[in-house]
Amino acid sequence: MHLSDSVGDPALADPLPADPFPVLAQWLADARGGPYINPDAFCLSTIGPDGGPRSRIVLCRAMDVARGSLTFHTNRRSAKGHDIARMARASAVFYWDRAGRQAVVSGAIEITPEPISDAYWRTRPRLSQLTARASQQSEPIASRAALLEAIAAEAARFGGIDGSVAIPRPDHWGGYDLVADRVELWVGSTGRAHDRAQWRRGADGWTVERLQP
Ligand SMILES: Cc1cc2nc3c(=O)[nH]c(=O)nc-3n(C[C@H](O)[C@H](O)[C@H](O)COP(=O)(O)O)c2cc1C
Repeated sequence: MHLSDSVGDPALADPLPADPFPVLAQWLADARGGPYINPDAFCLSTIGPDGGPRSRIVLCRAMDVARGSLTFHTNRRSAKGHDIARMARASAVFYWDRAGRQAVVSGAIEITPEPISDAYWRTRPRLSQLTARASQQSEPIASRAALLEAIAAEAARFGGIDGSVAIPRPDHWGGYDLVADRVELWVGSTGRAHDRAQWRRGADGWTVERLQP
């Protein structure tokens, strides 16, 4: 057996594509069609008030290939929202284990246009809308019962959990766009001979280089 046979499992194209986003979009589409419970989940890291990183999982609700951005939705008064208000940069890590694929996307954060947040809000189940309204995300609460009471109070305002009264999106809940200036794609391979490439975006567009594993 040749080395190229044993470590030649699916890898990034050679030469590497000039723009990583079509590949990333394809990977996300593959994951959505694959065996994952949360194919859209990524670890989002922001910069906390002490200057250190803070990480949590959120869901990628849109990817704009032409712009090179991805969108997640959250409470803008949450810990991550405050982090972004102080320092509008973040890093996102996707990991699709069955495919042996990791993607790291870093860049600037922009507030998603309000009509897009409205449109996404309208797709959410009513109970999720009520909870988003009731939860002061990341703030302490006295008990779980108190949270459930707050959700019930919101439900009562809007005709119940199964009611038909439209539930408005709070001003502080909506999307953020992560506009990439760095993307790393990683494909796992036999014997740790992984394939990695890093794209960086400057004034003239993307430049790419392969990295050692
Ligand atoms: C699979 C999964 C998906 C999640 N998706 C979101 C999301 O899209 N938006 C969100 O605000 N929180 C989401 N969460 C909850 C966050 O991980 C986190 O607990 C919450 O946003 C508060 O984070 P913060 O206090 O760092 O701001 C998700 C958690 C998991 C495990």
